[in-house]
Amino acid sequence: MSVTREGGWYPLMLSADLETGTVAGSAVPGRDLAVWRDGQGRAHVWDDRCPHRGMRLSLGFVREGALACLYHGWRFGAEGRCVHIPAHPDLAPPGTIRTVPLPVAERHGLVWASVGAAGVQPEGDPAMEAAAWLPVRSVRIEAPWRDVARAVGMPEGRRAAVLDRDVDGRVLAALLPVGAGACMLHLLAAAPAGVERLHDLADWGRDVRSRAEERAGRACLAGIVA
Ligand code: FES
Repeated sequence: MSVTREGGWYPLMLSADLETGTVAGSAVPGRDLAVWRDGQGRAHVWDDRCPHRGMRLSLGFVREGALACLYHGWRFGAEGRCVHIPAHPDLAPPGTIRTVPLPVAERHGLVWASVGAAGVQPEGDPAMEAAAWLPVRSVRIEAPWRDVARAVGMPEGRRAAVLDRDVDGRVLAALLPVGAGACMLHLLAAAPAGVERLHDLADWGRDVRSRAEERAGRACLAGIVA
């Protein structure tokens, strides 16, 4: 994975894909992340690395408002501090055993995390604020995110925008770069939207993926034979 880091708010996943009491893996360039939702419905984003021995926290599980590591079961509370060590149940873990939570926001049906210097809220514009957004799907695309952004008509410098599509109506597209040559495309439809329209947009997402990966494959081949 590239170690290049760009600051800002990243759209990690559809809010609907993060159920209460579950954890999932995500990433931004140069940084793997664990994303989890506690029993109160609040989303948390941490580095995907246990402070004990480095196990991926995204493989863990949520118990009693804390994220438990799969390896030795250490539990970390919402603030990132270790709150329980099963091998020493009577020990109050020192406050130094902790992970540092990233700033998180849920807006427009997406879980966002702030990396590096960023404003207090994720990017938005009047078009995004003007509608309620229904989750369609997320697709992983093996192509550079900037190429995908150009292909779907994303305004320069943006990671999320409302796209006007003649056939399907308004769609909110958000792009998460997960490495030098891959990204996640999250799609949401402006409410109200019937099942047929949601299916059409899902098909469009798959079509975007096919064309982007075909282009990326051709570019890679051209580089090899040049
Ligand atoms: S590596 Fe996570 S508890 Fe040991």
